[in-house]
Amino acid sequence: MEKIDISEQLQYIEKVNQLNVGKKLKYFILTMGCQLNENDSEKLCGMLEKMNYTKTEEMKEADLIVFNTCCVRENAEERLFGKLGEVKKQREEKGTIIAIGGCMMQEEHIVEKIKQSYKYDVIFGTHTLHKFPEDLYNAIMQEKRITDVINIEGEVIEGLPIKRDDNIKASVTIMNGCNNFCSYCIVPYVRGRERSRQASDILQEVQDLAKQGYKEITLLGQNVNSYMVVENQNANHEIDEINTFAKLLRAVNEIEGIEKIRFVSPHPKDFTDDVIDAIRDCEKVSKLIHLPLQSGSTNVLKVMNRKYTKEQYLSLVEKMKEQIPNVTFSTDIIVGFPGETEKDFEDTLDVVKKVGFEQIFMFIYSRRVGTPGDKMENQIPEEIKHQRFDRLKKMYEDSITENNKKYIGKTEKILIEGYSKNNENLLTGRTDSNKVVVFEGKKDKIGKMANIKIKSEHMWYLKGEIV
Ligand code: SAH
Ligand code: SF4
Ligand code: F3S
Repeated sequence: MEKIDISEQLQYIEKVNQLNVGKKLKYFILTMGCQLNENDSEKLCGMLEKMNYTKTEEMKEADLIVFNTCCVRENAEERLFGKLGEVKKQREEKGTIIAIGGCMMQEEHIVEKIKQSYKYDVIFGTHTLHKFPEDLYNAIMQEKRITDVINIEGEVIEGLPIKRDDNIKASVTIMNGCNNFCSYCIVPYVRGRERSRQASDILQEVQDLAKQGYKEITLLGQNVNSYMVVENQNANHEIDEINTFAKLLRAVNEIEGIEKIRFVSPHPKDFTDDVIDAIRDCEKVSKLIHLPLQSGSTNVLKVMNRKYTKEQYLSLVEKMKEQIPNVTFSTDIIVGFPGETEKDFEDTLDVVKKVGFEQIFMFIYSRRVGTPGDKMENQIPEEIKHQRFDRLKKMYEDSITENNKKYIGKTEKILIEGYSKNNENLLTGRTDSNKVVVFEGKKDKIGKMANIKIKSEHMWYLKGEIV
């Protein structure tokens, strides 16, 4: 993979910084998408802070506003257009700079609409994130709007500044893009083809994080288990031997200081035995597998282009249950995909019952312009989609309490993340299976691992005490 030379961009960061020096400028960023989108926002924050902007949580007081968009489901458009309407006056009156980036900006029809109907200063896409400083500089100097969206294949960007949201847990993108073209999904069109970062760069980043005191790492990608480095050279012009996801997991597991490793999302079709072995062997790797099901019906899966059947999914789960002690599962499910019959939907419910997921992220199918699913004629009426969604939700919620009972009396090794959002007197962390646990404890325990004995369950969280 070609690494993009960002030295020019680093110069633009300095140029904007020179323009801003001595001014007290604030930026506001709205992150609208997934964890990869969040990780991109952290890079935008890193660049902005080097350009003498400080973060504010108040959009109204910002001198620069960034909307980092997502387009995986509908409503996203309405939300963005609403926001652009909201900031119109602020831009006119205060000269606030409006920058719009992210996945939605890779959609031509959206960019056209924004150009025609809204005011903005910079539009950048997923392939031009690193060019944000240059685009911003040009927008300021030329006092004209800059639209910088391209579609390029096979680039990897290293070395952008980053300002992370948290100081205990960090996300590290290991690969970008997707080659799968599931027929409902827009991601491959807006993120481009799969490209993996060099393992040496990833490991260096994790080592640096460990040195800074980070304890938990989440490895990110649209399809992490197809992480693959082909004939690549690292900085010393040696071929990187770590060229698969399984090897990468093992290497990250060796890094001192890191206590917990999570990853999202793997694809069931790429879940090879070496990955299962690595999860089993690596004590820091969470045994919660996020295994997107999407549908439990073989017929629907076929039309979705998922490349596995109901039976294959279930036997993969069985295999992992046998081989990985204490394994748990979470998943993504779409209801109401075109052509989904009552029988198909019941297959989904059947898989849910058989697997016993810790957590289910449920979505109502949403038509995305440009995907095969959008062109299918047998769309499901809204009413039926919603009914099925409610049935699935009820089945899931009914299972939570029962499932939670298995934790009571058990002791879980937990990373203490901070104070509980709902009760500032309690500390909080997550079980290996990503369940929220609250307990009493002193502030100095934050950032440390502790053994917590689970005492009671409260549907969305567990209560325990430090032992
Ligand atoms: N690459 C990841 C995540 C993709 S987006 C994966 O393959 O699992 C996150 C989730 O959004 C998907 O898993 C899917 O359940 C959901 N999703 C994607 N496109 C959708 C659409 N058009 N309508 C509804 N849900 C969708
Ligand atoms: Fe979308 Fe499928 Fe790729 Fe996931 S694997 S990003 S659902 S196309
Ligand atoms: Fe959305 Fe892009 Fe993520 S479409 S889900 S922000 S990859």
